[in-house]
Amino acid sequence: MNSAMTPNGSGAVMAFVSDIHVGSDTFLPEEWKRFMEWLRKDPVAKDIRYMMMPGDLVDGIGIYPGQEDELLIEDVFAQYAELAEMVKAIPDWIKIIMMPGNHDAVRLAEPQPALAKEVQAMFDSNIMFVGNPCYLDVEGRVVLAYHGRSMDDYIKNISGLDYAHPLEAMREMLRRRHLAPVYGERTALAPEKKDYLVIDQVPNIFVTGHVHKCGIAEYRGIKLINASAWQSQTEFQRMHNQVPDPAKVPMIDLGSGEMWVEDFSH
Ligand SMILES: [Fe+2]
Repeated sequence: MNSAMTPNGSGAVMAFVSDIHVGSDTFLPEEWKRFMEWLRKDPVAKDIRYMMMPGDLVDGIGIYPGQEDELLIEDVFAQYAELAEMVKAIPDWIKIIMMPGNHDAVRLAEPQPALAKEVQAMFDSNIMFVGNPCYLDVEGRVVLAYHGRSMDDYIKNISGLDYAHPLEAMREMLRRRHLAPVYGERTALAPEKKDYLVIDQVPNIFVTGHVHKCGIAEYRGIKLINASAWQSQTEFQRMHNQVPDPAKVPMIDLGSGEMWVEDFSH
């Protein structure tokens, strides 16, 4: 594998904003507001040209038993309408790319299609909607984005992996060249003729969400990003002793390959 990012002169920055979970009573409005204000006034934000949202855009409905007790917005279309309002605050020099996750209103089986046309129509026309997983070519860089549901199966099946270290699970995906190699467990897989979960093209940048952690790392020249969340600890996470790391935004300079994290948690 040789996917090191040799400098290519692009001055564009890509930001990663995962697991917003709009509609949940644990969504973090103050932190989100802080991020929106930063986008308007910080000089660094002027260089952000792309914002990838790798899934769990909204909290959804009927995702797990008793979810209705943890929802502020109990209608999934109203959740997307709220998200559509929220993203209007993002400056228009930033191209937004939205991908579904296991909480979104598309089929659960992977590969997941992009959000339905009726939902897309609720958003401004400059937003791009993609399926999960997806490859993107951005400023000459190959970006592989995957929500990360299979992290549950990777962590369960490979000793040494845990929810606190999702970048290790991402390394295992790259080693196996497969995003979701286990059939019949937590990750629902659609029986397609072609296996869309194979990592057949080695990416420059590999991003996931799902576990609500935040981290950046590198594996054989590939930039690894786990893109945080905008939700505080849920009842489910508390029961499973999972501690989220919300309100952080990993960024990458697409020209130089430099990565960093902006923190909006306090
Ligand atoms: Fe999530």
